[in-house]
Amino acid sequence: MNDSYLNFANSAVGAKLADALGLPKPIVLDRYKEGQPVIKGSLLIGGGSDAPLLPTLAKIFKSIGVQTVAPRHLPQWLPLANQAGLMSGRWGVDDQPGEKVKALVFDATGLTDSTQSDALYQFFHDAARSVLPCGRVIIFGRPPEKCANPRQATIQRALEGLTRSLAKELKRAIAVQLVYVAEGAEDQLESTVRFLLSPRSTYVSAQVIRVGLPVGAGGTPSDWNKPLAGKKVLVTGASRGIGASIAEVMVREGATVICLDVPQAQPGLNEIAAKLGATAIELDIGAADAPQKLVDAAKADGGWDVIVHNAGITRDKTIANMKERFWQMVMNVNLSTQERINDALVESGVLKSGARIVCVSSISGIAGNMGQTNYALSKAGVIGMVQSTAPVFAKHGVTINAVAPGFIETQMTAAIPFAMREAGRRMNSMSQGGLPVDVAEAIVWFANPASSGLTGNVVRVCGQSLIGA
Ligand SMILES: NC(=O)c1ccc[n+]([C@@H]2O[C@H](COP(=O)([O-])OP(=O)(O)OC[C@H]3O[C@@H](n4cnc5c(N)ncnc54)[C@H](O)[C@@H]3O)[C@@H](O)[C@H]2O)c1
Repeated sequence: MNDSYLNFANSAVGAKLADALGLPKPIVLDRYKEGQPVIKGSLLIGGGSDAPLLPTLAKIFKSIGVQTVAPRHLPQWLPLANQAGLMSGRWGVDDQPGEKVKALVFDATGLTDSTQSDALYQFFHDAARSVLPCGRVIIFGRPPEKCANPRQATIQRALEGLTRSLAKELKRAIAVQLVYVAEGAEDQLESTVRFLLSPRSTYVSAQVIRVGLPVGAGGTPSDWNKPLAGKKVLVTGASRGIGASIAEVMVREGATVICLDVPQAQPGLNEIAAKLGATAIELDIGAADAPQKLVDAAKADGGWDVIVHNAGITRDKTIANMKERFWQMVMNVNLSTQERINDALVESGVLKSGARIVCVSSISGIAGNMGQTNYALSKAGVIGMVQSTAPVFAKHGVTINAVAPGFIETQMTAAIPFAMREAGRRMNSMSQGGLPVDVAEAIVWFANPASSGLTGNVVRVCGQSLIGA
C-alpha cells in the first residue's frame, strides 16, 4: 500500500506546506539492502564511571567494523578500544559537541543508585543534537529483577522511562532501545547489537529487550550476511503479506524455507514458493490433525530449526454483536493451535538443537482495540504463551519470542476506512506505517543462531505507536 502523504511530505512543495500547517513530516526510513554494512557513520560511546560492559562492546564494535568516538568523560574508552584493535577518537573539544554520529551507545550496567543518574544527563544532553536522521541509540542496563538490591533495581528500572522519552524527543526517525543484559550473558549480545544498530530495526523503537544466558546450541555464524545457511524454517501464512516477506527475508539470510498456508491460498503459496525455491505445504493449521501432520513433515525433512507462527485471522465485531463461531475461530487459529503445534514439535524432538520459535502477536494484544475482543484476547494470549513456555522450552534447548506489529502496510490495513487508516499510520514516533519487511527483519534477528540469549521477549515493531505505549 502506497503512503502518498509520505511521498508528498518529502517533496519540496509538500515539505514547505507541512511546515506552514504544522503537519507531521515523516522521513523516508533507511532500510537494509543486502550486503550493506551494519552502520554507515560513527558511533559515540558513553557510560557511567563504572561501565563494566565496555570491554565487551569494544570487541563487538571491532567485529562489526564500527568507528567509535568518545567524550572526555569516558577516558577509559580509548585504551579499551586500542586493546580491541578498534578505530576510535575523541568527541568534542572544550565542551563543544563533536561530529554528527549515526549512533549513541551508553553503558548504564554499572549504575547502582539513583544518585548516579548525572552521567546519563551529561551524555544525552551533550549528544542529543548530534545524531543523524535514522540514527540509533542503545542503552544497556542490568535486568532489575536480577539486581542485588532495591537501589540498584530502582535505577535500572528507571532507564525505561529515559528510553521511551528519548525515543519521542529525538525525532527524525531515530530509534532508541534499552537492552537489559544479565550478568554472564555479555557474550550473547552481538546479534542484538547488530540488529539494533542497523537499518533492519528501522521500525522498532522504545523497546526493552532482555538478553540472558544462552539456551541450547547456538554460536557465531561464519557469515553474518547468511546466518541461517543450512537452517530449515517453517513460515505459516506465507502466501502473502507479512508471511511472504518473512519467507523472503529468511531466504536472503541463507535459510531453506517451507511455506505453509491454507488450501484456498494455493495460487499465492505456489507463486511465493517457486520464487524462493521453497517447499509449499497446504494445511489449515486450525485443523485438529495439523500438529501431527507438521511433526510428520518435519521428521520426513530431517528436522526443522525455526518455526514462525505468522498465520493469523481477524473477525472483528463488538462482543455484543459477535457470533460465537468467530470468537472460537480466532482463538483457535491465533492461539490454541499454536500451543498444540509447539507442544507437539518440542515433545516429538523434531526441532533441532538450538531451535527457535517466533510468534506474531499484535499491539491489539497489548492495548486492546474496539471490535477486537477475540483478536486481542488471542494476541495477548500469544504473549502469555511466549512468556510461560520460554523456561519450559529452554530445557529442550528451544527459544521462543514474539514480535508485536503495530500499523503495517498490508492488504489487511489497506481495507481500513481512510480516516482510521491515516490515524493508525501517523500516531507513532515515525509518523508512518511500517512495511512487512520491518516485521520480517525482527523475526530473523530472533531466528539467528547467535540469538541464544533471547527467549521470552516480546518486541513491538510499531515505530513507538502511541497506542498501548
Ligand atoms: N498487518 C498488520 O498491520 C498487523 C498488525 C499486527 C499483527 N499482525 C499479524 O501479523 C500476521 C500476518 O498478518 P498479515 O497482515 O500479513 O495478514 P494476511 O491476512 O495478509 O495474512 C495472513 C496469512 O495467514 C494465512 N492463514 C490464515 N488462517 C490460516 C490457517 N488456519 N492455516 C494456515 N494459514 C492461515 C492466510 O491465508 C494468509 O495468507 C497475523 O498474525 C496478524 O494478526 C498484522
